[in-house]
Parts: sequence; C-alpha cells; structure tokens
Amino acid sequence: MTKQASATAAPALSSEVSAPGSLAQSLEDAFLTVRNETERRVAPLSPEDQQIQSMPDASPTKWHRAHTTWFWEQFVLGEHCPDYRPFHPDFAFLFNSYYVSAGPRHARHRRGDITRPSADQVGAYRKHVDSAVVKFFREAGEDKLQAIAPLVEVGLNHEQQHQELMFTDILHAFAQNPIPPAYDPDWRFPASTRTGEDWLTLNEGIHTVGHVDDSFHFDNEKPAHRALVGPVRIARNLVTNGEWLAFMRDGGYRTATLWLMDGFAAVNSEGWEVPGHWREIDGEWHVMTLAGLKPVDPDAPVCHVSYYEADAFARWAGKHLPTEMEWEVAARTGQLNDAFGIAWQWTRSSYAPYPGYRAIEGALGEYNGKFMINQLVLRGSSLATPDGHSRVTYRNFFYPHHRWQFTGLRLADYD
Ligand SMILES: [Fe+2]
Repeated sequence: MTKQASATAAPALSSEVSAPGSLAQSLEDAFLTVRNETERRVAPLSPEDQQIQSMPDASPTKWHRAHTTWFWEQFVLGEHCPDYRPFHPDFAFLFNSYYVSAGPRHARHRRGDITRPSADQVGAYRKHVDSAVVKFFREAGEDKLQAIAPLVEVGLNHEQQHQELMFTDILHAFAQNPIPPAYDPDWRFPASTRTGEDWLTLNEGIHTVGHVDDSFHFDNEKPAHRALVGPVRIARNLVTNGEWLAFMRDGGYRTATLWLMDGFAAVNSEGWEVPGHWREIDGEWHVMTLAGLKPVDPDAPVCHVSYYEADAFARWAGKHLPTEMEWEVAARTGQLNDAFGIAWQWTRSSYAPYPGYRAIEGALGEYNGKFMINQLVLRGSSLATPDGHSRVTYRNFFYPHHRWQFTGLRLADYD
C-alpha cells in the first residue's frame, strides 16, 4: 500500500540465479515473501469483505487469493511436479481467470456469486499449495530449478499484480457503502513531491525504449527499439486535486468541446461530475481512501480519473497527455517527481505490440498479448503497487473508461 507500510520487496531472483546451491533457498524466500504479502493485505478484511464483487471489472478478495494460488498450481506444480495432486478438482474451473488454453472457467462477472469455498477454505488451499511449492523447490534439484526460475518470477509478479488489484477492488466496494469503511484507519496518502522547474524539456532525439537486459520484465516490454522523441516538455509534477477542482469549477465536465465523443458519452451515461470515489459532504469534497472517507487535499495528486477525463483535462489546460515513449525517456532522466508510487499516469499511447513482438508459446502467451487492442498505456506505478514491482519500462493498460484503479496524469506540451 503506502511506501512506508509496504512489506519488504521480494528478493530479486535474477541476481541469485548465478549463485550455485542457493537457488532453492532464494526461490523459497522470494516465493514466501510474496505469498505472505498477499495475506498481509487480506488480514484486515472479514470473510464478508472478501466475498463482495462490487462491479464486473472488480473481483472478490477471496477470488484473488484463490486465483493466484491456482496460478502456481496450474503452471508450476501441474506442469513440473509429477507427484502433485490438485487440492480440489473443481478449483481450476472456479479460479482460472482468462486462460483459454488452461481450460473452461467460471464467468468473470459472476465471481461474487461463489460463496463456497469459504474464505477459510481458500486459506487452506493457499497453505496446501505453499507447502507443495516449497517442497518442490527443496527437492527439484539445481538443473530443474534453473529451468523453471523464469516461470517462478512470472508467478511472483503475477501475484504482485493481484495484490494491487485487491486494494483497488476492495476500495471500490467500500466506496459503495453509505457508511464508508476504512481498510486501515492509520493508512495515509503518500506524500507527493513538488520541486524544481515545472517542466522537463526533451530535445529531439532518437532513444532506445523498452526493456533491454535480461532482468525480470513482462513480454510486452520487448523488443527494445529505437524511437524518435521530442522536442517536448513533460510536466515534472502530477496534476493535483486543486487543479482538478479548477477544471470542475470551470464547467469541465459539462463542456462537450473538451471531450472525445466516447468520453462525453461516458460522462453522460455514468453521470460523472467528479473523479471516482469523491463524495460531497456539507459542501466539501471528500474522497474514499484506504483509511476511509477523507477531505480532498488540493495539494495531493488527483487519483481515480479515467483516460477520457485525463484527456479532457489536458485539453482544458491547453496541454496534452504524453506518449508512453515520451514518458519513458523523461522518466529515465530521474527528473520526474512522483513517477512511481502514487498514481499510474495515463499516456495517449494505445496499448499495441512493440515492433516484432510475439507472444510466447503456450498458455502464458495469453498473459499480455491478447489484450493489445482498444486499451491505453499507463506508466509509473501507484501507492498500491508492491515494492519491487515497478520499473521505467513497465506498461500497464486499461480501457479508457476505467477509473477504479489509482490512476492520475501528468501533462505534456509542445510549444
Ligand atoms: Fe491473474
């Protein structure tokens, strides 16, 4: 969650792979660190909290706990541990998300209907698989572990992605409650940074973008390639709630000329007048946070805005959203404030394959590649991103109407 509240990041495996004899231990340490972080995030939630699916895009906490467990069972134990027997023969149907190659699955929008297995039974499922994976690491032998280490890293990063979704999904559920609950009353919105010049200037140049080395990355970050970037100026700071309030006061949500046609249709169909999770109390704007409902801080970065809103705001401000390449080149300078750790930043780049990209063979080829249509790229990371899960080449992606994630923006300008 917050930078200060996050658990220790999972040990980086890649640096350990070259140390003979320690691979089993480093795999086990990394595995248990990530698995424990999932349960640490679940700890404040009751079984009833874990059951709710507040909209089709969000999943119950209990489902996240079980699905991440199924991922280890399906792709590591099932494919590499011949003696392993699944915990329950029907769990693959219940907890497969979208892997067509891995078999049939329960409807995504009906995950909240599944009251059994209970949260306790899902806990037992997690323990069963944890024990089996640790036993496998200890007994498999160096050669086999070397071969599956990259798969284990995918499993770790997959579970970390769901750790973030657990926060965004439960926050959405709590935000629907007229008596807004606090996930953690002591949670605090991370402090933002505003220093130096307002704009970072990038002169015209050809840059390498995408992931270059063999450290962990998702397949969508490769191939690295050359791109022409600039001249452009990138805002060093994230757009704030105060700036968003000015947009609202100026009639931003009611001015059709500021909006893409699909965006203004969403404004009208969804009744958008404010960012997601905002509520007016006695004439003052409040926002639902992990600590419950809090007054909107005008100096804090705005959060829970869709691409459509970010795009309209940029037009209102007389500016633009950066492309993902501009964002990456700017972030590599280290001169962007809050590039990571508060809110993912919308870019105006479509989520498309990099030149020459091919999804890998097999079921895990479905991980990223098949989503490369009709979505927009977000860069950076958020307050909900687990430690050790962000990097400058990371490509997050959501549909342009989505705003239940921790999503904000920074501007670009070309004048
Ligand atoms: Fe998943």
